[in-house]
Amino acid sequence: MTCMVAATGGLLFGYDIGISGGVTSMDEFLLKFFPNVYHKEKSMKNGGSQYCKFSDHLLQLFTSSLYVAALVSSFGASITTKALGRKISMLIGGLIFLIGAILNGVAMNLGVLILGRLLLGVGIGYANQSVPVYLSEMAPAKLRGALNVCFQMAVTIGILIANLVNYGTATMKKNGWRVSLVLAAVPAIIMTVGTVFLPDTPNSLIDRGQKEQAKAMLQKIRGTSNVDNEFEDLVIASDLSKQVASPWGNIMQRRYRPQLTVAILIPFFQQLTGINVINFYAPVLFKTLGFGDGAALMTAVITGVVNVVATLVAIFTVDKFGRRGLFLVGGTLMLVCQIAVGSLIGSVFGLDGHGQFSKVLGDVTLAIICVYVAAFAWSWGPLGWLVPSEVFPLEIRSAGQSINVSVNMFFTFVIGQLFLTMLCGMKFGLFFFFGGFVFIMTLYVFFFLPETKGVHIEEITKIWRSHWFWKNYVPAEETRV
Ligand code: BGC
Repeated sequence: MTCMVAATGGLLFGYDIGISGGVTSMDEFLLKFFPNVYHKEKSMKNGGSQYCKFSDHLLQLFTSSLYVAALVSSFGASITTKALGRKISMLIGGLIFLIGAILNGVAMNLGVLILGRLLLGVGIGYANQSVPVYLSEMAPAKLRGALNVCFQMAVTIGILIANLVNYGTATMKKNGWRVSLVLAAVPAIIMTVGTVFLPDTPNSLIDRGQKEQAKAMLQKIRGTSNVDNEFEDLVIASDLSKQVASPWGNIMQRRYRPQLTVAILIPFFQQLTGINVINFYAPVLFKTLGFGDGAALMTAVITGVVNVVATLVAIFTVDKFGRRGLFLVGGTLMLVCQIAVGSLIGSVFGLDGHGQFSKVLGDVTLAIICVYVAAFAWSWGPLGWLVPSEVFPLEIRSAGQSINVSVNMFFTFVIGQLFLTMLCGMKFGLFFFFGGFVFIMTLYVFFFLPETKGVHIEEITKIWRSHWFWKNYVPAEETRV
């Protein structure tokens, strides 16, 4: 139950990812805030390069500004999470997000709209920093993967709800976009209220000197009074972490190079799969391919459903087949899909962007994109959050998770800000560009990422000691006393 409530933090994140794409394809919204884009889109209806019809930096800023704020705030969240506990960070995240949602709903001009997006971003920075750590610390080792994936499940449910809301509000005569944006307050309220009733994690209690409560909490969440070994491990890990003057300086040490690599590369690669092209811009992309307004919004609902269902696959298999298996299968499938979509779009639009997708080809493209979304949803989607959250020993956990969140947010921002411009410039080649990264990341997993399935979170360092490459970085003996 604890994990379920905490995972609703993912709802916040998901709702926002999903809501902006539909809103930016609504005429009333475009006319009010981005009249240039509106007029450009209408004037291109009868010809002109399809690749460029939505390319506009301010429009992309509406989507991407949130992620810059999330990036910056995840560092503040790291301090709060360590000093005051995981729970307080989640609470702060929910409250700030709530204010952002209200501002968005009442926005009269672009300034207020962007300010609201920035506050939503601060909320997300807090939630994404604290929730995955919370989940990994609460879960028993054998269930950690599945419970952590609940976070991703909540993200995908948030995206789907947002897509459905957009589909509904687009038919409203007036203010549909306002309803879409203000409804973000609902997940914020769920998370804020839910968090009030959550206990903090044993790790965090020990870290803040509350050993008695920590032991009682551990007994409660493990359902047995026989927790001495695990408790002892947690205390040792906490003592070790206190010997470290600065977690930031610490993570830079050579012995943490494998973890630092994970903290940077995993979120970087996750975003360079190109997934958020679909999550942010599916309606805009399908409008570019010639779908009508309603049909374009429907594509977002379809990919949203696929995303949720395929995440279930991860929940049921991640602790059985392991992380590497899912990464490798998912990556290979995504690569095939990207090559197929790039080729299809290239064959119809060519380089100059003139052309028309037939109904059948449009549907085929949608089907391939669904396979791509499914492959992401059981691999890089959940594992992009799970793997980093479980590889950091306590002494670098807050810092490591902050790096993970901020790198993720930075590249989410880059994709949000540049996709429409890149599509205009790189044309169908953009899909091959993302495919190239998927190829590289699959090689990285194959050669450099050891399996973390079932390993106790306090013993995780051992996976690097037996790795052919990383063993050169990690000292053989733990400096335990
Ligand atoms: C990623 C997001 C993505 C979402 C849903 C998450 O794991 O971090 O960028 O939008 O999955 O597909």
